[in-house]
Amino acid sequence: MPTLTNKRILLGITGGIAAYKCAELSRLFTRAGAEVRVVMTRAAQEFVTPLTMQALTGNRVHLDLLDFEAEAAMGHIELARWADLVLVAPASADFLARIAHGRADDLLSTLILATPAPIALAPAMNQGMWSDPGTQQNLAEVHHRGYRLFGPDEGDQACGDVGPGRMVEPAELLAGCAELFSGEPLAGRHLLITGGPTREAIDPVRFLSNHSSGKMAYALATEAVAAGARVTLISGPVALPTPDRVTRIDVVGAEEMLSATMERITDADVFIGVAAVADYRPANQTAEKIKKDQVSMKIDLLRNPDIISEVAGLNPRPLVVGFAAETGDVLANGREKLERKRLDLLFANNATETFNSDEVAATAISAEGEIEIPRARKEAVARKMLGMIAERLSAAADTAS
Ligand code: CTP
Repeated sequence: MPTLTNKRILLGITGGIAAYKCAELSRLFTRAGAEVRVVMTRAAQEFVTPLTMQALTGNRVHLDLLDFEAEAAMGHIELARWADLVLVAPASADFLARIAHGRADDLLSTLILATPAPIALAPAMNQGMWSDPGTQQNLAEVHHRGYRLFGPDEGDQACGDVGPGRMVEPAELLAGCAELFSGEPLAGRHLLITGGPTREAIDPVRFLSNHSSGKMAYALATEAVAAGARVTLISGPVALPTPDRVTRIDVVGAEEMLSATMERITDADVFIGVAAVADYRPANQTAEKIKKDQVSMKIDLLRNPDIISEVAGLNPRPLVVGFAAETGDVLANGREKLERKRLDLLFANNATETFNSDEVAATAISAEGEIEIPRARKEAVARKMLGMIAERLSAAADTAS
């Protein structure tokens, strides 16, 4: 099934009988994982109601360029920037003519000029109008500009004619749009990432934890979305904003992180354990704050579950990727950890250089050997790491097929 996971599609509807198919189209897009926002021209509203499109997409439909209320909610330039793809379906002969001349006399034509996103058009009109040299010239112009054209199909027309001019069917449009994103290395993949530290409560006001900032996990989540993935980030307590389009689940302790992971692992293609999970937790958490009435005190500790090992023990299991921040022999410790935890890939680095830093260097360790990732900003390193993960996924897919 074609996927548009996480994609933001701006669906422009112009005036034509095929506009009724946009109800089905937006449903297919939503089901494929996209968020759809609809812009309708005045003529389109004669064929399908804004209310229908609003109900189907769950988003307010955009109608006018000069609408104070709509501009206050999401201005037209913001809307133009929001989109990953603008699809105009159906694109009428009049609309083609207007955009071929760079007009900006309504909201949709203005968005076409303003958007940095790719533009796709699904023309639909009477066969005579389609074949007219004026339309063909306009088409050649928009084609030359790099707009993607879907169709039209040939066949019976609503007006009784037979010939080219039917809008491409919604399922085919979905496949065509999904195809535009298929070059993204993690298109359609679900990545489950743990990040940040865990906190293990001693009493209501104190806890055991570590210096993890969560920056590496958050950089990976951000870059994975940019590479086309759907991302679930299970995060310990950190002071970072949630990256755009990432589903973030906040947890505190290791046991909570384990159950949040297990609840969501089934459809994950990749598990990346970046969290600095506390290895131990206090055996007893007191209900009252501990008073300093003793000269010394002991806290009994219990071993926490090893989340990544639990994931690696699943059958079937996702691709399992670990991190190791070491202080001694980074390579030897990393290799031992890769084997002990049965990981597919491990990124090892020096703990003293990693925590709370914006930059990092790492060594990728796998059964095939080691690859150095030179020191750079965590985002750049994250992109390299995800590239390696994507390679492994496609190698596994090739073997399976
Ligand atoms: N990890 C985990 N659950 C734990 C501990 C670690 O999922 N309870 C994961 C980390 O997210 C990381 C990898 O295991 O991907 C290695 O973490 P690290 O803390 O280096 O491993 P430990 O098993 O704690 O090894 P050490 O004895 O060196 O502390």
